[in-house]
Formats: sequence, C-alpha cells, structure tokens
Amino acid sequence: MRKLLFTALIGYLLLALAMLESGCKHAPLFDDDDLVPIDTSDTTSIVDTLPTGIPCNPDSVYFETDVLPILVSNCAKSGCHDVTSHQEGIILNNYQNVMNTADISPFNLNGSDLYEAITETDPEDMMPPPPNTPLTQAQIQIIAKWINQGAQDLHCDPNYGSCDTSNVRYSQVVLPVISTYCKGCHSGASPSGNISLETYDGVKTVAQNGKLYGVIAWSSGFSKMPQGGNKLDACTISKFKAWIDAGALNN
Ligand code: HEC
Repeated sequence: MRKLLFTALIGYLLLALAMLESGCKHAPLFDDDDLVPIDTSDTTSIVDTLPTGIPCNPDSVYFETDVLPILVSNCAKSGCHDVTSHQEGIILNNYQNVMNTADISPFNLNGSDLYEAITETDPEDMMPPPPNTPLTQAQIQIIAKWINQGAQDLHCDPNYGSCDTSNVRYSQVVLPVISTYCKGCHSGASPSGNISLETYDGVKTVAQNGKLYGVIAWSSGFSKMPQGGNKLDACTISKFKAWIDAGALNN
C-alpha cells in the first residue's frame, strides 16, 4: 500500500514537472520566482483605441499613455522582456504583466526592482543594458512618479476635447511621440529594421517615403508600430499626417 502511494506520488510529481516544462509555450505561464499567472494574450492586449471622454489630469501619471510606451519601446523588445523572451521571468508589455513580474511596490520607489534597474549605474546591472540607449531622466521621472502615485492603471484621453491638426510642429508634436514610443527600438548602433529615428533626418526619410504614416496608421502592407504596443490615438495619427502632408519640416 505504501509502495503504491509512493509510486502515485512520483507519478504526480513527474506530471507536474512536465506541465511546468511546457509552461513556456502554453497559457497560463508562470513566473519562475513566485508562480504568478502571466497574461500571454500578447495580441489581444494590444488595443487600437484609447478611451475617450476622460480628460487627463496633468498631475497624474497614466500608465497606458505615459508609462507603457516607454516600457514597450525600451524593455519589451524581442530577446528582452516581451512575452516570448521573458528574460528573468519579467514581461513588460501590459499592466497586468508589469505588476505580476517586475516587483513593483506601489508608493515605495526604493522597494521597486524596476526603479532600481533603470537607475542602476553599473553597466553589468543597468537596464536597458548597453549598447541600448539608457532611459532619459524625464522617462525615469515619469516611472518614479507613477510608482509614487501607487502604480495604478489609470486611463485618460490625451486629446480630450477637439483635435487640433493645424500648425503641427516637429519639435512639439512629432519628436516627443517618437522619443517615447519609437526611439527605444529605433536608435543606437543597430536600430530595429535598420531604421534609425534618432535624428530629424531619419524621421524625415520615413515620413517622405510613406512608411511613417503607414506603420502608425496600421495601414495594410505595413508593419504595425509601435511593435508590440498599442496603436497611437487617432488624434496623434492625424497630427502626424498633417505634419507629413505639410512637408515634414524641421519646425
Ligand atoms: C519594440 C520595438 C519597436 C518599437 C517600440 C517600434 N518599432 Fe518600428 N520596427 C521594429 C522592428 C523589429 C522593425 C523591423 C521589422 C518589421 O518591419 O516589422 C521595425 C520596422 C519599422 C519600420 C519599417 C517598416 C517597413 O515596412 O519597412 C518603420 C517605418 C518603423 N518601424 C517605425 C516605427 C515608429 C514610427 C515607431 C513608434 C511609433 C516604432 N517603429 C516603434 C521595432 C520597433
């Protein structure tokens, strides 16, 4: 009887192990460290519209529009912290995965591993690791403020009210969006797709050959950018179009 029980136990353990092994491919996926469920619905979490009707409070940090684009562009890249690669079990492609895998301690900056990693100065430990471009001070401040405000999943419409597409300037509209949503992948020595958006000239090239509008509007025949992230809001896309149509000036 005891032997039977023992055999059953071993069998059960082997089964459990086999299930863990296949965990990388099948949902639900578990973080190696603390066995929290991870959202593997990579594509369904990508939304192509933002909630309208909620004005943004300038004092609040909004995860979806302020924090997530920085994480998608700089961390949730292929080979790093996207769903497939999940280095160290950390996945930074949506709110649920960030909260489940990145050791965020709401209201506690120094207790949050994510903050520690992005402010680390030792090249061995810093994130994103060299030769990736480090986060800017402004981006680090946004993430810090988000944690200090409780690391919430707040949403708002950055273009609440009317969408003004007149006199769209590169410096005021286009550049800030490219810096937040695109530069993490499209900069440095080996930019994604061999397309660098680090300088005005790089942006101008894709603006004029039609690719910039094609990728952000998710037009058929173009890759969807930001890769792995949500679609830019309709007003921002309209502003880009207006800027491109007016000659994609360095204004
Ligand atoms: C997480 C990384 C990542 C982010 C963020 C990202 N891209 Fe890309 N991008 C890529 C990769 C990888 C490719 C090459 C493969 C492909 O075309 O899908 C690419 C390709 C492109 C191309 C060329 C497409 C073509 O058809 O030749 C353009 C243009 C582009 N990206 C623009 C952007 C813009 C604009 C943004 C920001 C709104 C952005 N990307 C954000 C990774 C990224």
